[in-house]
Amino acid sequence: TMIDLEEIQTFAVQLSKKAGQAILEGSARRFEGLSGFDEKKNTADLVTETDQATEKLVKDEIARAYPHHKFIGEESWAAGEENQLTDEPTWIIDPIDGTTNFVHGFPFTCISIGFVYRKEPVIGVIYAPFLEHLYHGLKGSGSYISTPQHPAPRRLPLAEPLPLPSLRQALVAFEWGSDRKSDILAKKLRSFQRITGDSDGGVEGGQMVQGVRSMGSAALNFANVAAGSLDLYWEIGCWAWDVCAGIVIAKEAGCAVVGSRDAALASLSSSAAEGQRFNDIPPELLTGRKYVVVRAIAD
Ligand code: IPD
Repeated sequence: TMIDLEEIQTFAVQLSKKAGQAILEGSARRFEGLSGFDEKKNTADLVTETDQATEKLVKDEIARAYPHHKFIGEESWAAGEENQLTDEPTWIIDPIDGTTNFVHGFPFTCISIGFVYRKEPVIGVIYAPFLEHLYHGLKGSGSYISTPQHPAPRRLPLAEPLPLPSLRQALVAFEWGSDRKSDILAKKLRSFQRITGDSDGGVEGGQMVQGVRSMGSAALNFANVAAGSLDLYWEIGCWAWDVCAGIVIAKEAGCAVVGSRDAALASLSSSAAEGQRFNDIPPELLTGRKYVVVRAIAD
């Protein structure tokens, strides 16, 4: 069967706007004190009524437009639907990426719509409704951003990334994630220390990056690396729906998506990144917690 990726991308962009509208409406109810949220695993892992309602809306619209496509969504997964990734056209969706932000009214929240064909992410749409930032990418056709200030889509990266002489010039995002048990937290803390620490000031292996950010949305971290406003994003513990759209948008903007912190750190100072690009969604992303890193290739 032939699939028309341009048409699917147009559909996905329209869908992201509808989902964005639902997220805004859900947020308005939140401030009226009507919308509830539940803890999934612990107090740092939340799901809201709006997550579930938005996923249902998106899933229903896709089923109507593309009845034969497969669907993998964060909330369907949480509800016990275990769809394996196959060669079939598959939507991989996070209805609200940045749920904690959503619950607190912190505007770094988005819908993340990824589309995978023959196990390869080929379309990505990320829409942040509070900011009205829309990112979309199609394999082989580049990534684009539209904002209220610049409604006409502009190709990413917005400016050629400056070659970074070292990590000391880099703005790096990393996330704390919701898994804070001692062994996992110890790994994260060691990595954070290594990324931020001053080796001249006694922190062994410290990279002393220029700045660090934890904005609370994996998808928007990818989008900002793609746009060139972050140099690197590192996290342990992402899921396919957090990263699927971002992988397309970032790669189409010339970023490397690599699988470990060390690979990412190495790639910042050389063109080693080349050999370490993922061409497929790593299948283990569907089942587990992984390292995911993105950077703009600056050299
Ligand atoms: C989470 C956010 C968070 C990241 C987690 C994600 P959610 O997604 O992107 O920043 O640290 O790894 O799972 O739960 O808000 O959809």
